[in-house]
Amino acid sequence: MRKQVSLWKTFRLSLCIGLLAGLTAACHPQQEKKWHIGVSQCSEDIWRDKQNRELIIGGYVSNQVELEFLSAADNDSLQSAHIDYYINKGVDLLIASPNQKTTLSAAIDKAYDKGIPVILFDRKTDTEKYTAYMGADNYEVGHTMGQLIATQLKGRGTVVEITGLKGSSPAIERHRGFLSALSGYPDIRVISSEEGDWTEASGRKAMEEILQAHSDIDCVFGHNDRLALGARQVAIEHGLDRLIYYGVDALPTPGGGIECVQQGLLRATYIYPTQGMEVMRLALKILEGQPYERENTLYSAVVDSTNAELLLMQYKELERVSGDLQTIYGKLDTYFSQVNMQRQVIVFFLILFLIIAVLTVITLRSYWAKSRINDRLHQANTELARRHQELQQLYRQLEDMADARLVFFTNIGHHLRTPLTLIAGPVEKLFADSSLCGEQRQWVEMMHRNLGRLKQLVDEILDFRKIGLEQPEALAEEPAAPAEHPATEQQPAAATDNEGKSEKPELLVVDDNADVRTLLKGLLEDRYHVTLAADGAAGLKEARRMVPDLIVSDVMMPVMDGLQLCREVKSDPVTCHIPVLLLTARSLEEQRVEGYVHGADAYITKPFTAALLLARIENLLALRRTLRRAFAAGIVGGQPVQAPALPPDDKDMTFVGRLHDIIRQHLADADFGVERIGEEIGMSRVQLYRKTKTLTGMSPVEVLRKSRVDQGRRLLETTDKTISEIAYETGFSAPSYFAKCFKDEYGKTPGEWRG
Ligand code: FRU
Repeated sequence: MRKQVSLWKTFRLSLCIGLLAGLTAACHPQQEKKWHIGVSQCSEDIWRDKQNRELIIGGYVSNQVELEFLSAADNDSLQSAHIDYYINKGVDLLIASPNQKTTLSAAIDKAYDKGIPVILFDRKTDTEKYTAYMGADNYEVGHTMGQLIATQLKGRGTVVEITGLKGSSPAIERHRGFLSALSGYPDIRVISSEEGDWTEASGRKAMEEILQAHSDIDCVFGHNDRLALGARQVAIEHGLDRLIYYGVDALPTPGGGIECVQQGLLRATYIYPTQGMEVMRLALKILEGQPYERENTLYSAVVDSTNAELLLMQYKELERVSGDLQTIYGKLDTYFSQVNMQRQVIVFFLILFLIIAVLTVITLRSYWAKSRINDRLHQANTELARRHQELQQLYRQLEDMADARLVFFTNIGHHLRTPLTLIAGPVEKLFADSSLCGEQRQWVEMMHRNLGRLKQLVDEILDFRKIGLEQPEALAEEPAAPAEHPATEQQPAAATDNEGKSEKPELLVVDDNADVRTLLKGLLEDRYHVTLAADGAAGLKEARRMVPDLIVSDVMMPVMDGLQLCREVKSDPVTCHIPVLLLTARSLEEQRVEGYVHGADAYITKPFTAALLLARIENLLALRRTLRRAFAAGIVGGQPVQAPALPPDDKDMTFVGRLHDIIRQHLADADFGVERIGEEIGMSRVQLYRKTKTLTGMSPVEVLRKSRVDQGRRLLETTDKTISEIAYETGFSAPSYFAKCFKDEYGKTPGEWRG
């Protein structure tokens, strides 16, 4: 888990670094344009165009300048709005040429007050709120041109002046310089000074005005070349072609002042420097915190016919070079944007590669981690399986030990109980002997007490052996065997048969211990006729031979144990009716169940008392007598009757049914006797006798005779046959014998019965 978190952290860190690197590179494709410079031009003309181009070229020097140009078209309000726009935009520096001195001061001051460096160029405001100024000395310009004109006119003549926009600083200063220069020439008269607004049209208009009042004019001084040329057009239109014209600006462009001088349209002009590159250089110094001059005066010169051609040539060369420069810068721009594009692509793929690499590493590491975990899980499972096996082995050993302990204690119990039983019998007999007295009585009582103590100890041993063993779940109910109830433990009466004759029931005692056999014989022979057998096999043989009324058998015996004997007895049709009482030291519930499963009718645990043994024997015999009545009823009725206490497939019930069927089939046969019944049913004469007697209380002969009499009665009741006919039909050899037997059974002769 911790590993996964650190992997995730690594992945995120790598991803962030990659993305940052990519974004940085993507956002800085070229050197960033660090400086945003706003240029506010007052006018829109070729002089301003030239200056703007120079500013752009000046910006290439650093390659970090982004220039924005706005032109106010000689409109004060518009220019104020432009300056506000630059302020709001937050330009790094403002280059302005204010249209008029006073009207633009507020806007310029505001920018300055906002902390924006302000370079005034060419024109000024009427405050000191500017960072630097660059431009020509316009007073000097006016003064130089005044001197030049005075010289040209040789100190005598008439001059008119057409000024620039009156409120603009160059117009004010040029006017003052011009008048100042001419003031030294008393014969030169400035007959008119008309206001223009720096445009050719305003020059024309001013000249129209002048010519309305004056016709004798030698020279015209326009504050710029456009004003002078406009005035010239008007003068020529008025037929005045001797006038000479002077201007300012001396632009080298086609149609500009230098070309006009060369063509003789202007006598001379003054180079009014644009110097956009210088302005940009100053701007960069300010922006980069380098030292700079606040007042930067540009010096210049006069252009006349002597230098005009040369200057034009120089200018053309300059133009060509600057054109080349612009081409180069243009190509550089393209190159840089291509490089930038390539860089972005490279960065994109780098990021992609980085992400794929990080994801691959993470995937591989998690795969390795998973493999390791799986290996460990496999090892742990193997170890668990091994330990489980060990535990199972231990558990089996424990079970074996428990079994061994069980066997040990069972044997101990068995071995102790048998001699205890042997001691208990005689001691109880002595204890019950009232003739004993004195010291002998005390000894017998002592023996009797300690015998009880010994029995208790044996019970405790057998209880101890149960410790740690689970009780079997479904031992549940015992089969319906006579309960060891106190009420049944009274001394039983001597057995009697159903006819009331005194007859001892036959008991077979099977035990491998001779002492036990002797003891049992002693206990039982008063009431029963006892036969002894020393093991299961001998017992079974004896049981088949004599068919006793009850078998008392030990369980643990050599050759054949009591359980096997029980099973054999119960599965043989000859002996299956005989109750079996198992007599053993085994006392566990499951062992009792085992005995009953093998068909035992009762179970008595050693040591036992004589009274208990006799009571159980008598109970079993009594039960047998009850069944016998049911069988007797069944055998003599029309159909064999199912005894309610027996299951439908009970072997004894089957025997009785069979006996009934055989007799009915041969009822009319006077020669049919007991031997034939035994042959048909597969039993010896003795076995048949014992079995029939036990089950029905009657001998086979009696059963046969009763069946004949009963059939005779049915024939008497349901037919018109004569008594003789009925007697022969029911197997009697003589009607008189039939009559005798009938009377014995029903108390009436057949004749009396028919009535
Ligand atoms: C250009 C111009 C020039 C003149 C200068 C004065 O806009 O009119 O012709 O010399 O401005 O500021």
